[in-house]
Amino acid sequence: MINDKEKRVIELRKIINEHNHRYYVLSSPAISDYDYDMLMNELIELEKQNPELYDENSPSQRVGNDINLEFNQIEHKYPMLSLGNTYNEGEIRDFDTRVRKLAGNNFKYICELKYDGASISLTYENKKLKYAVTRGDGTKGDDVTQNVKTIRSIPLDLSATDCPNNFEIRGEIFIPHAGFEQMNKEREEAGEPLYANPRNTASGSLKLQNSAVVATRPLDCYLYYILGEGLPSDSHYENLQEAKKWGFKIPEEPQCCNNIDEVWNFISEWDNKRHELPFDIDGIVIKVDSLNLQHELGFTAKSPRWAISYKFKTERVATILESVSFQVGRTGAVTPVANLKPVKLAGTTVKRASLHNADIIASLDLHLGDTVFIEKGGEIIPKVVAVDKDNRLNNAHTVIFIEQCPECGAKLVKNEGEAAHYCPNEQSCAPQIKGKITHFISRKAMNIDSLGEETIELLYNEGLIKNIADLYDLKAEQLLPLDRMAEKSVNNILTSISDSKNIPFEKVLFGLGIRYVGATVAKNLARSLKSIDSLMNASIEELTNIDDIGDRIAQSVVQFFESEKNIAIIKRLKEVGLQFELQEQEKHSNKLEGLSIIASGKLTNFSRDEIKMVIEMNGGKAVSSISAKTNFLLAGENIGPNKLAKAEKLGIPIISEEEFLKMIN
Ligand code: IVH
Repeated sequence: MINDKEKRVIELRKIINEHNHRYYVLSSPAISDYDYDMLMNELIELEKQNPELYDENSPSQRVGNDINLEFNQIEHKYPMLSLGNTYNEGEIRDFDTRVRKLAGNNFKYICELKYDGASISLTYENKKLKYAVTRGDGTKGDDVTQNVKTIRSIPLDLSATDCPNNFEIRGEIFIPHAGFEQMNKEREEAGEPLYANPRNTASGSLKLQNSAVVATRPLDCYLYYILGEGLPSDSHYENLQEAKKWGFKIPEEPQCCNNIDEVWNFISEWDNKRHELPFDIDGIVIKVDSLNLQHELGFTAKSPRWAISYKFKTERVATILESVSFQVGRTGAVTPVANLKPVKLAGTTVKRASLHNADIIASLDLHLGDTVFIEKGGEIIPKVVAVDKDNRLNNAHTVIFIEQCPECGAKLVKNEGEAAHYCPNEQSCAPQIKGKITHFISRKAMNIDSLGEETIELLYNEGLIKNIADLYDLKAEQLLPLDRMAEKSVNNILTSISDSKNIPFEKVLFGLGIRYVGATVAKNLARSLKSIDSLMNASIEELTNIDDIGDRIAQSVVQFFESEKNIAIIKRLKEVGLQFELQEQEKHSNKLEGLSIIASGKLTNFSRDEIKMVIEMNGGKAVSSISAKTNFLLAGENIGPNKLAKAEKLGIPIISEEEFLKMIN
């Protein structure tokens, strides 16, 4: 017979697995982090009380893991553990009681803000930044040194005479609000989907393959934990103050507290003030200050006994769902938006909330007039997290996802495996046309900065432009009679349209707005295929042979060029003189002609980008994953064992940096 506890454990595992899928796979969580933690805590507690219910595949057995095999893995000298979480005053006082039992009464706490970003470990050897490694599975993490070096607030060389030669310092990489908003503004202008929140964007940025792109991200880093031998003081706080003198960015907010009442005051104070900070925090970290005492208290398997985190409750308010509207974006994706009775939340008035897609609406079982709960968890647009079904009006209508495009009436389509519905009427659905033109003129594409979204709207409404090629036929006499147009502005517009004819091929390709072809993919395609003509003729197989191009992108490219309308537009753009061929980089030699080379690990003479460039400048092809077609593996220091094993298995010769230098002379 299966008892109630067992039933609940099975149920919890199922619920948590579903939420994991929503969060990690669909990127559309249906519950708040707090509710998730509560479910997980309940499961962990039940499993602890009933060891016979142990299951190695229970979601409670998953250790956070951000390992990405594209990077080399480095073992942490000291494991990177996480902190135990608490959610109320009672749990904070329980922590204090536990500490006091072992430590007596004569000690201090340090309270710090809990920064909401990606944790990082920085190792300094001989006062130089040697490695920057992500948390990974806690035992080993990804070597993201090249990417971290782009963060200006992290010192690469320490000049202080009084700092240890070798030590490790840990902290949090994050994106401040202002930088995040700017990034999203640019995404919006380019018609690209917005980043969901600063935390995911920060950790995503660390995992980018191209450190030049990372350098454009507004990343910053606070350091809060220093490890090593020969540290200046027994006090954690004092050591961080010293580290500040050595050049590290150490937070200003930490405070010494003599007892748990002072700790609780600090927590309450920041619970109110946190919305005024220029970055996100999700709680407070409480640490015992003395390193000796920390050592005595030690660690459990998962977290230190000398520190704990207090997690703030995400603010949640109830309001009424008045209606649901559907917005059509540049790619035709239809996004449902909840129109709400205005309500105050975390300092702003909220009138709208995202509903993401049809699956989310169905899983919330939304009805018009429902009382819904809204949360704002770092996301720019608040989200509906739950419905108060007990308060539902009789005869309330279920929210039904539309079947036809609200703008042009076309029947919507939904591709298998995708959550979004699309309007297929690319050529004549107004928001799609306007969105495509706005994308084309955006900074990262054709950079026609004298035109903006409003002017595009005006020109479209006046019937002057229906596609991107029409821009190049605009005449002064058509523009001058329009509202708010003077000779000077008209001149500016025509000049910057004409100047855009010099914009390089990869940006033109990005500007075409082929689905899934973002700026980086466009660059990749342009470099590999060199001209629009070879791209148009490329088969799925040829495309997927290109580095980082998968089936989804290849199919989208082929589909784009199957459309006669697209071909006609490209023909017109060619005629007016846009760049449809790659301007060749200066070549140094042909010594690597016909060779595919993968470089991996830390090189002495080149950064990750430089080695790619050097390979290409000598006629070779720099690839980023090993296949049977790879000719050489250029192995640097600390190369990952997986890459080596794979090369050996495929019989690919492994060369050193020195040998490589000889090859190119
Ligand atoms: S101390 C052994 N201090 O929270 C304890 N962590 O769940 C080391 N975090 O992985 C961590 N702010 O990424 C510490 N002031 C702070 C922090 C902090 C944010 C993050 C860190 C860690 C997680 C703990």
